[in-house]
Amino acid sequence: MKILNFGSCNIDYVYSLDHIVQAKETEMTARLDVFPGGKGLNQSIALARAGAAVYHAGCIGQDGGMLARVLSDNGVDISLLQTVPGQSGQAIIQVSAEGENAIFLYPGANMALSEAQIDAVLSRFSAADMLLLQNELCHTDYIVRRAAERGMCVMLNPSPYNEQIKKTDFSALSYLILNEVEAKDISGCELPQDCLRYFRQHYPALKVILTLGDKGCLCFDGERELCQRAFCVKVKDTTGAGDTFTGFFAAEIAHGADSAEALRTAAAAAAIAVSRNGAAPSIPTMEEVRCLLQSSPTEQGAKADDLRTRIEAYVRDHIRTAALEELAGELGYSAVYTGTLVKKLTGRTFSALLQEERCRLAAHKLLCTDAPVEEIIEQVGYKNASFFRRIFRQTYRQTPLQFRQSKGDAK
Ligand code: RIB
Repeated sequence: MKILNFGSCNIDYVYSLDHIVQAKETEMTARLDVFPGGKGLNQSIALARAGAAVYHAGCIGQDGGMLARVLSDNGVDISLLQTVPGQSGQAIIQVSAEGENAIFLYPGANMALSEAQIDAVLSRFSAADMLLLQNELCHTDYIVRRAAERGMCVMLNPSPYNEQIKKTDFSALSYLILNEVEAKDISGCELPQDCLRYFRQHYPALKVILTLGDKGCLCFDGERELCQRAFCVKVKDTTGAGDTFTGFFAAEIAHGADSAEALRTAAAAAAIAVSRNGAAPSIPTMEEVRCLLQSSPTEQGAKADDLRTRIEAYVRDHIRTAALEELAGELGYSAVYTGTLVKKLTGRTFSALLQEERCRLAAHKLLCTDAPVEEIIEQVGYKNASFFRRIFRQTYRQTPLQFRQSKGDAK
């Protein structure tokens, strides 16, 4: 499958500041970087670094040599990119010490695209191909309509949200990838789950990926709802993270990956991007993404680790009174399911886990305090002393007193 990205190219002027400048404020910037950028260019580079065959179509100005070069250096086909009179698009980007950004755009050459040029580009692609586009060019609605007429798989990232998006027919799309702010603007819903529900109700065939920054993302893939957590990294600059996510997700889908797998890869790529400066320069290679994926626990693994920790903490914190029903209430599961879960995650039944923890605590008290054995038995939650003595002997092969003595002698 070939991927056509009809997308913007900008020269990004990035100012590093303590905080984003407010109205009536003047701040001195410590640093100015000039990077290649634009949502279109960033996404093409992400696609190429993820291993996809990508054709970038759009317009640059006469100052856009470095934009064309960075695309082609990354293996993007630029035969459909036109140079037009005037300046390329520009983005003025403030990046705060926390890595947040504020951007305004001068669209420049990105607005030079004509319907005739769009038709000529699309004539090179067929129903077997994918179109990716954002909303920093003119004629978004026209590109979507014409590509859908050719039967292409159309993936739209409606960013930035404006009047042009309101004119775009979402029922012509296969995929919609958007962030919380765009989802709210389009659906009028506040909560991410409600936004997702809105799209499912209005466009039942549409696959929707809703990115939520450091909270990960939600997705409806046409059959099921999925969520993907964000990978934990130290944030330097979030600019271009959404583009990295979109490019890697599109490339994975084009390669035939399952949506859950594509989301995980995209989330890992975006995490690497936010840990670096700039938009295009921060986009990782597929090798770097694979390394992060291999060194991170899987979703299920992470969830299992979390549950195991909660079960063990519950037993430790409720050593005298612990009960399976109460633990089930804390975890939000039925007692039967919680019993199965405890066995699966700890390798013991709930009652064996509790006995083991009580014996461990009793052994600690025998060694570290002078408290009489009867008192310790009571402190660790046993009402039946002979039951405790039997369990203790099974575990330590000694009676509590022998244990205290032998360890005391050894000191
Ligand atoms: O998504 C990040 C991009 O948005 C920047 O590279 C900038 O050019 C703006 O278009």
